[in-house]
Amino acid sequence: MILPGSSSQALAAALADALDEPLAVPEFRRFPDGELLVSAPALVGEGDAAGRAGSTGTDADAAGVDVDGGRAVVVASTLTSDAHVELLQLQDAAREAGADEVVAVVPYMGYARQDKAFKPGQPISARAVARAIGAEADRAVLVNPHEPSIADFFDVPCEAVDAGGTLAEPLPGDLSEPLFLSPDAGAIDLAETVRGAYGRGDADYFEKSRDYDTGEVEISPSGAPVEGRDVVLVDDIVATGSTMSEAVAVLGERDAARVFVACVHPLLASNARTKLEAAGVEAIYGTDTIERDVSAVSVADDVAAAL
Ligand code: R5P
Repeated sequence: MILPGSSSQALAAALADALDEPLAVPEFRRFPDGELLVSAPALVGEGDAAGRAGSTGTDADAAGVDVDGGRAVVVASTLTSDAHVELLQLQDAAREAGADEVVAVVPYMGYARQDKAFKPGQPISARAVARAIGAEADRAVLVNPHEPSIADFFDVPCEAVDAGGTLAEPLPGDLSEPLFLSPDAGAIDLAETVRGAYGRGDADYFEKSRDYDTGEVEISPSGAPVEGRDVVLVDDIVATGSTMSEAVAVLGERDAARVFVACVHPLLASNARTKLEAAGVEAIYGTDTIERDVSAVSVADDVAAAL
């Protein structure tokens, strides 16, 4: 049984297809005080539809899917604090219905970039949310978390799936002398993965520095020649778009031909999309860990393989 959070409905459906498992249709409600109630009326324990429904205040579907003693896979990218609560509620609803195994699939894990206390008095937010998720799950599956070590914050087994190879799929087949560039050293492995999946080209990385108070990003070009070449900028996430728009602009100044952006998590917060377009990006490709119009490929098969 696959249970989708509101931000991962397409991916959950693709995963249900890939695994040939039933897809629950959850209901998302918000009370006047702002609290959420996410429930899955079709999720029932054996012969216990009415009783289970009574505990969540929802009407049971008599033809509900029995998860009693079975596996429930909750699929929810935690883009917002509300999405975190949805994930926890769905995990609890699955347990309440008698699921024997609850698996938390968190395709995009919010707060993962707060993986250390950057200043005295700050929390390690990634650890805090990992522990909360792990409290109601038997195991967890993440997709390209910001750092692989994020998996260690979970108190239950956690696997980090690498979906980087899928990013080669939507790229045009006619890239000229392609160069796969990550905006910093931390994402060079991802750039190498995409280059490997594409089948030809070079890989390199920029040096990046960010002012953490203003968010401004400075990019120092790599030594790789870019003039007249098609460049694919590869990163795990495009959030504010400051990193990628700066990189696109630098490449434009250095007479690169077309510049594409490929990322696993196309968060594209606020004006990120406009910043990229204004900088001259040719196209943006992302996966469905975050469901956006640029989500050109699905990580469903990679996640299914981990399940
Ligand atoms: C940083 O280490 C990440 O890999 C990304 O480069 C960064 O989070 C992107 O953020 P933004 O889009 O806000 O520049």
